[in-house]
Amino acid sequence: MRRAHRVSDPKDDVALYVHWPYCARICPYCDFNVVRDRGRGEEQAGLMRAILADMEAQAALTGPRRMASLFFGGGTPSLMDPDAVAAVIDRARSLFPPRGPIEITLEANPTDAEADRFAALADAGVNRLSMGVQALDDAALAFLGRNHTGDEARRAVAVAARAFPRLSIDLIHALPGQTVDGWRAELTEALDLGFEHVSPYQLTIEPATAFGRAVARGAWTPPDEDLSATLYETTQTVLEAAGFDAYEVSNHARGVAARSAHNLHVWRGGDYLGVGPGAHGRLTLDGVRTATVAHRGIAAYVAGVEAGAPWSEREAQSARDAAEEKVLLGLRTVEGVALTDLAALGRTEGLEPLAGLIGDGFLAVAADRVRATAAGRPVLDGVLRALLV
Ligand SMILES: C[S@@+](CC[C@H](N)C(=O)[O-])C[C@H]1O[C@@H](n2cnc3c(N)ncnc32)[C@H](O)[C@@H]1O
Ligand code: SF4
Repeated sequence: MRRAHRVSDPKDDVALYVHWPYCARICPYCDFNVVRDRGRGEEQAGLMRAILADMEAQAALTGPRRMASLFFGGGTPSLMDPDAVAAVIDRARSLFPPRGPIEITLEANPTDAEADRFAALADAGVNRLSMGVQALDDAALAFLGRNHTGDEARRAVAVAARAFPRLSIDLIHALPGQTVDGWRAELTEALDLGFEHVSPYQLTIEPATAFGRAVARGAWTPPDEDLSATLYETTQTVLEAAGFDAYEVSNHARGVAARSAHNLHVWRGGDYLGVGPGAHGRLTLDGVRTATVAHRGIAAYVAGVEAGAPWSEREAQSARDAAEEKVLLGLRTVEGVALTDLAALGRTEGLEPLAGLIGDGFLAVAADRVRATAAGRPVLDGVLRALLV
């Protein structure tokens, strides 16, 4: 009898990303694919059916593959019905049977209402929560347009730490008027909350957001480059002293086991399936690395899935594009990239093009891998531009 699922090479394993676009309130800085959830109950039920159908269709396309990890991102997936979360997890497990226990992450907002559902989400199979704390100071949270206070976030972290074996929090710095001492104090206070992973993001001003418009009309000014760089350095110093290693530019984990398996899979250039409106995917189909982007609009996505065409874009990547992406992502991590990945960029001069960046102390080579140094990481965008010209 044929086995339903051949035992494939672990390199073939796929990570799954499920996008849930609904939020209780839209934050003024956020440029993700999001909508307010009010009055959209029926639409949500339709989207859930489409997500399950899309997973089935993509499984038929990829053939038997193993699931490396599952990530519910948003939007605010902590607003999902836990039964719906369980249904996605069960379907994913049956379509892409994992080799063993896998990391299942869900992004959450820290409101009391959501904290009440953490236990049910854990029962549904979520074993890692990624919580958008953003700040602990109420004035900062109000400025960020968040729908929770610092105390509410502290309570939610405590509930999550009991419900989930693994917990990560997101913080945002580089707010207008923020001082280095203020940020150091906030980060230090956050560390007392207890979590194994933290993503401190610098506030990015996205043009198509309320903050983008406010900054454009001069309503306020974000910190300048020097202060932003000092805030970044402060983050590294405080987190390192607390036992967190910076395994990626904006991701710090307390030990190797606390690193995000899902993100590492993506950063290493692994295949991942994107499901839900606007979700991106990278799939090797018939030996060709293919980039997919699902329709951004919810109605367009649902109609697309029903018509057998969930994607607005599906493009075979050239070998050079695939290699460039691998280098862009890999150099953000402590693992760096293999010299062979750089060779795949089409360079024939060996280490020669790297010499300047190595000489300036931005990159280092060891054991056939290239890594960004502590000096290179904060200026990585410039390093990558120099490397990829
Ligand atoms: C898309 S959100 C989803 C999580 C959840 N809805 C929340 O807001 O907590 C993921 C994270 O992206 C970060 N983020 C979103 N927009 C950002 C921006 N413009 N600058 C910096 N970080 C941003 C926030 O830290 C947020 O926690
Ligand atoms: S930051 Fe989170 S809650 Fe705010 S709009 Fe974006 S996804 Fe929604």
